[in-house]
Amino acid sequence: MEKKTWTQLWLDYKKTKTSEDLSFLTEIILHGFSEGHPVIQNTLSELQLGIGKILGAEPAVKPADECEGKADRGLVIIKDEELPEEGYKLKRTGQESVMLSASTEKGVLYGTFCLLRKLSLAEDLEDPDICTAPENPLRMLNHWDNMDGSIERGYSGRSFFFNNGEIIVNERTRDYARLIASIGINAVVINNVNVFGEATELITGRYAEPLRKMSEIFAGYGIRLFLSLNFASPIELGNLPSCDPLDPSVIRWWEEQMRTVFDNIPNLGGFLVKADSEGRPGPFTYGRNQAEGANMLAKVIKPYGGLVIWRCFVYNCRQDWRDRKTDRARAGYDNFHEMDGQFDENVILQIKNGPMDFQIREPVSPLFGGMLHTNEMLEVQIAQEYTGQQIDLCYLIPMFKEILSFRTYVKEQEDTVADIISGRTFGNRNTGIATVANTGDDSNWTGHDLAAANLYGFGRLAWDMNLTPEEIAKEWISQTYTLSPDAAKNVLWMLLHSREIYEDYTSPLGIGWMVNPSNHYGPSVNGYEYDRWGTYHRADHLGVGVDRTDKGTGYAQQYNEPNASMYNDPQTCPEELLLFFHRVLYRTRLKSGKTLIQHIYDSHFEGYEKAQELKKRWESIRDELPEDVYPRVLERLDRQISNAREWCDQVNSYFYRISGIEDEKGRTIY
Ligand code: GCU
Repeated sequence: MEKKTWTQLWLDYKKTKTSEDLSFLTEIILHGFSEGHPVIQNTLSELQLGIGKILGAEPAVKPADECEGKADRGLVIIKDEELPEEGYKLKRTGQESVMLSASTEKGVLYGTFCLLRKLSLAEDLEDPDICTAPENPLRMLNHWDNMDGSIERGYSGRSFFFNNGEIIVNERTRDYARLIASIGINAVVINNVNVFGEATELITGRYAEPLRKMSEIFAGYGIRLFLSLNFASPIELGNLPSCDPLDPSVIRWWEEQMRTVFDNIPNLGGFLVKADSEGRPGPFTYGRNQAEGANMLAKVIKPYGGLVIWRCFVYNCRQDWRDRKTDRARAGYDNFHEMDGQFDENVILQIKNGPMDFQIREPVSPLFGGMLHTNEMLEVQIAQEYTGQQIDLCYLIPMFKEILSFRTYVKEQEDTVADIISGRTFGNRNTGIATVANTGDDSNWTGHDLAAANLYGFGRLAWDMNLTPEEIAKEWISQTYTLSPDAAKNVLWMLLHSREIYEDYTSPLGIGWMVNPSNHYGPSVNGYEYDRWGTYHRADHLGVGVDRTDKGTGYAQQYNEPNASMYNDPQTCPEELLLFFHRVLYRTRLKSGKTLIQHIYDSHFEGYEKAQELKKRWESIRDELPEDVYPRVLERLDRQISNAREWCDQVNSYFYRISGIEDEKGRTIY
């Protein structure tokens, strides 16, 4: 079999021209931390590699007692109990010394990656004076990898965790851990939320050894391993007649099983659970509520310090399309908000950013700000299932920033999504952010080379939600490629415009969907219109959109004021979400003065045009790009252009045919 190789992405350290002589950094003095600790060992080898490559000189570690009292030269790593758990301080302490302090080994590791990043970016070390700690307690990747090696909604090859029913632990496991630790990720779920077949057995002794090995590699980089759990395990593994969470024999079964799994994998962080969702079993099957299901598991794993991460993606996926009263958007809130205050302390509700499902534009889920006494975590998706599938370019960090800065008005201050998931709003600790990951075993990890910016950006943003999409993109570009300022500007332009471009040529003004059912790539305006998934645009000859106001499904009323009123009124509803909340006639004028139908035509032609501009910009910097990267991305841009054309023509033709209204500019519509 062909041997797989892979790149080091942004960790491919290159020799960098620094503004001053930094050779003193090759002397590393370690105070208060043991060289033998796995995290410190990894930190030191990262310094060895990074400093070695960036400065071109191998560093050496000096034991602290050898240089007692004269820490005036070198990179001095010391313990400072005052600092927060994962935080660190980086300070220029003299002409020839930089001090890195932290209270834990993890802090040292993060501080080291920060220093290496600064060096790679050739940033000034004159006065770094950085004192930082992550805003989000949990910064997590959710992999939807199956044990046969396939990846649900995976667009960059096969799994590097599983193949053919077995677990893979090899050099790539370590490289993966290094990569994600370098951007501050501290938790990983390796298997798909839809748990079936062999994956159900991950909690049995069968996979104990490789899982323990993997969890130890992860722990060496400050990462906790989590597993997705099959709620029906008592039936499937234990041969019990039910998995009713209140049945004593079911509870007993879980207690024994959990003892075994935590004995086998002491570093295990806990479980991610998709229950009562899209055909997965759950507490509803037994007339129990979501809290009863989650708390049962939470109590069982509490003695091991485990967390239950319970997903809120619970909705009726067997809706009759004729039924206009049921609104899928309402489901998350309707199923969970009344349970506020009933979940145990070690349960976290994981909530998708929007009420539907990772569309290019959705409002923020009203569950943020809809629960006051419940641990909450945000779930986003860099896998781009509905946003281009790592074929079309879509840098998602601008979208994530919008979500994080959304004010929920649950309090007068500190009420944004960022405040809630960081624990600032309610003073809780079990909170954070997760993304459905976009990696696979492709040599460049993410299929589309530029999609790695989403992985990098997610981690950086999860750590510091004040960073801007532009800052993050610039960091990623210059650590990944060696480009002239002009060329770098072109890549930056591509990233920063990509979300808008994708939105322009796909479904308009927040209505979503219009995709090919099942594979979710490419247009099919009515693909979901007469189906059971609760995802309708309701277009007819006069207008389009779903009335989610108080006169319609009442979804807008799930928000706190003033958001509820803002969304309820088409005059104040943000225009990009107009068709999500309102049914609008084609001849209605938008704020731009254009009619709705003209806006649809214009934005689609524009999106298609700009998709072509992406390619032009890429072609213009050909000479500066690595030989393998240039054609690989070019091929994706070509596919994006044909996809954009298909979307543009199908959406415009659909609305032209149904409305009979001409394009003012007389362009070709079919
Ligand atoms: C989407 C996706 C599924 C996935 C589900 C989930 O519906 O298409 O593949 O299982 O989300 O988040 O659970």
